[in-house]
Amino acid sequence: MSKELVMDAADTRRLLDHTAQHLTGAPLDRPEGPLKVSGRATYAHEYAPENCAYGVLVRATIAKGRLLLLGEDVVRGVPGVLGVFSGDRFLRNPAQGTANQAPVQGAEQIEYLGQPIALVVAETFEQARHAAQSLDLRFAPEEDGAFDPEAEGTTVEAPEKKQQDFGDFDAAFADAAFTIDATYTTPAQSNAPMEPHASVASWDGEKLTLWGSYQMLKYNRNELADSLGIDPANIRIHAPYVGGGFGSKLGIAPEAVAAAIAARDIGRPVKIAMSRQQVFETTVRRSESRQRVRLAADKDGVLTGLAHEARVSQLPGEAFSEPVAQATHFLYGGASRRYRHEIARVNRPCAGSMRAPGEAIGMLAIENAMDELAEATGIDPIELRKRNLPDRHPEQDIPYSSRMLAECLDDGARRFGWDKRPARPGEMRDGEWRIGYGVASAARKNITSPAEARVTLTTEGDAVVETDMTDIGTGTYAVLGQIAADMLGLPRERVRVILGDTELPPGPGSGGSWGASSSGSAVLEACVAVKRELADRLGLVADGLVLSDGDVILDNRRIPLADTLGAGPISAHGVFKPGKTSKEYAQAAYGAFFAEVGVNDVTGEVRVRRMLGSFAAGRILNEKTARSQCIGGMVFGIGSALTEELVHDLRDGHIVNRDLAEYHLPVNLDVPQIDVHFLEERDDLTCPLQSKGIGELGISGAGAAITNAIRNAIGVRIRSYPATLDKLL
Ligand code: MOS
Repeated sequence: MSKELVMDAADTRRLLDHTAQHLTGAPLDRPEGPLKVSGRATYAHEYAPENCAYGVLVRATIAKGRLLLLGEDVVRGVPGVLGVFSGDRFLRNPAQGTANQAPVQGAEQIEYLGQPIALVVAETFEQARHAAQSLDLRFAPEEDGAFDPEAEGTTVEAPEKKQQDFGDFDAAFADAAFTIDATYTTPAQSNAPMEPHASVASWDGEKLTLWGSYQMLKYNRNELADSLGIDPANIRIHAPYVGGGFGSKLGIAPEAVAAAIAARDIGRPVKIAMSRQQVFETTVRRSESRQRVRLAADKDGVLTGLAHEARVSQLPGEAFSEPVAQATHFLYGGASRRYRHEIARVNRPCAGSMRAPGEAIGMLAIENAMDELAEATGIDPIELRKRNLPDRHPEQDIPYSSRMLAECLDDGARRFGWDKRPARPGEMRDGEWRIGYGVASAARKNITSPAEARVTLTTEGDAVVETDMTDIGTGTYAVLGQIAADMLGLPRERVRVILGDTELPPGPGSGGSWGASSSGSAVLEACVAVKRELADRLGLVADGLVLSDGDVILDNRRIPLADTLGAGPISAHGVFKPGKTSKEYAQAAYGAFFAEVGVNDVTGEVRVRRMLGSFAAGRILNEKTARSQCIGGMVFGIGSALTEELVHDLRDGHIVNRDLAEYHLPVNLDVPQIDVHFLEERDDLTCPLQSKGIGELGISGAGAAITNAIRNAIGVRIRSYPATLDKLL
């Protein structure tokens, strides 16, 4: 790997391999863990500024049409009611499509059932809810709504850039020794973070403070400023703890804008929390998809062509569409390739990013199709995948920065006992359960994003790390602290990490699995600068400065770090920017999933009995939090394979199962022992930490290992996710 790389003196790659304490990578606990499990970590809704009023969102009860009347006279004079906000007063600048993922709102034009149309503010939450329910809403429904992405009259767009051809796919398909032509469907899904979206807004003159639950604060501040028509410099957002986001908190949501507008108007802080049903209907969802996959292979199972044609849905006018083929572009070879991407414009709640947008559902199709090809060719599914790993990116003709997919498949196979896989359905039994094994590749594009951080060495010899980066339950506090402790030779508990405040240097936010690599690299750069200054003060060259366990090691003497800081604290700003290598090399994290399922002969019930993941994602920054990310991703995989499905009513697009009772996330009894292993990998081309994103890797392909195992157990090929009982019996 990367033989052509020349290291120069300023190069900060590989520094973490030469620290005294080797803290980076260690499975250290989250420093904020005890606060979270004891209820002392403060989440957005728990901020209680003095004199705070409560807001409740009012939402459209039709799917398409116009709001004629709110009927606010009914609630005027109701005890406690402080204001009703709608139309222009509700959202000054309803910039459709540009407000990153914030659903259409505030306009009197209704585009989906559940769209926020007003806010009621009162002294107490109960009063606000009562008044919100008492409004006399009148609508003028329009008949031209589209609710079914597959219906005849639905408008379908095919963006030119996403219709791509390489070589001659039709010829490759016609000439192939083996072909697969299968259509897979995946349902809409809900991000379903545990903490509902909530905001508390408070003004002090021109200055707005917002306590919110968001993933990407530097962008969220700009979105909020745009919505309010004010200077972003006048907004401060706090989000020190975020109870999960999975993409639904990437962009500013209606409750934040509404709270800010109402608070300004009534001259008091305003707090709004979405109900669970509002989170389901009024934030974002993952689009359903229909994916036709065609594979063409020669007699040895080597792909000569592939086609991936998808249809997803979105509200009219919204820019985002699930990039279904994201992994297909780089994962397997085959000279002739075809992509089609259609967006059906429907009046359903806004589609947006949900954990691993693209790979999470695209790989359900591709990894299932590869299993079909393995069966057709009689080649072992692992061997088939290994035969189809291209030397260079098959479309861009650039090298891979690193790719240990084959190693992950082999490592996982060995640990899992793949050699015991039943040769045919029904061969392995456990009482009334038929047992099957399945495998799938894991792959997620590696993305990095500009990041800044400040690191300060105090005169007490402690360190403080500061950035507006968020920790959405992923381990940012843990990882940034251990990188700084490692670089500065401090015990971990002597580094304080402060996050989630837009007054701090702008981080990359938590999204696209880029957070740890990008913000960690900024912290590393800041530490390098701090060390340089300390070395200067001590009259040493930077390389000659050895720090360990809170001491400076000088000529075999240990001097407490604090004793060397008489001239005052040292503070430095670190900056990370994705380099040219992010374009010149195909970068992705890889892995392999293995699942053992039992399918009940009598009831058709499916149980995942074992699951194992073997991953290579560059340097692992904290083995414990990385493992947790992968386990969480694989639990998502169980959900997408077996239980999760947002059901839209075809008459009006509304979500039928809009709460956690009816939307079936896997619960403890659905989740077996999950084993996660990491292969040692360093990638010099991703970032100074040599790491890759890991937050979304564990979901990308996971569900296909389960449906492939079902096929192995009972011979039923699942092409419509999730694999509910009706599809198995
Ligand atoms: Mo992620 S879907 O970029 O939070």
